[in-house]
Amino acid sequence: MGYVYVNDNKEVVMKQGAIALVVLMVVGVAIQVHARPETRYDETTKTCRVLGDGPLEWESSVWGQGGKTFKSVCQSCHKRGNDKDAPFLWVESKTSKAWNRVFSKKYPKCAKDGSWQTMTMDQQLMVNDYLYRWAKNSQDINDNC
Ligand code: HEC
Repeated sequence: MGYVYVNDNKEVVMKQGAIALVVLMVVGVAIQVHARPETRYDETTKTCRVLGDGPLEWESSVWGQGGKTFKSVCQSCHKRGNDKDAPFLWVESKTSKAWNRVFSKKYPKCAKDGSWQTMTMDQQLMVNDYLYRWAKNSQDINDNC
């Protein structure tokens, strides 16, 4: 009887441990999601874009204009094994700051040779929003406006 009691107790302790672990994991994920940048200062238009809520919250997601346009336009060239001499690019190829530079300076050859012209200005801004929001290390950076 005494043995069974000890065994039961162990099980309870193990269950509590497991619950504590799950709680910690959920809290960890919640903090990470929350720590995504909520605003982005756009150099080109000199405006502060709110990504944390409102319409741009959706448009800067992978399912919104930003994510979808990146996939259909940018990744039409920048995909793995492409024959356009374009390096493979995805959202975590660069940090938030670096993505902002791509769009404010327009330094890539493709930005200069008209390959971006199939996008409206609004779409370009939303692609920038999307890349900025989900970039490499973006959970470590602060909002930039
Ligand atoms: C028509 C094909 C095409 C499209 C569309 C295109 N690119 Fe490019 N891009 C290229 C090619 C080719 C290069 C390499 C040019 C070179 O040799 O320097 C390049 C270079 C780049 C570079 C520099 C390389 C690097 O790793 O830093 C970046 C950044 C870039 N593109 C981002 C984008 C983004 C963002 C979009 C969408 C808004 C886009 N590109 C759309 C073809 C394309």
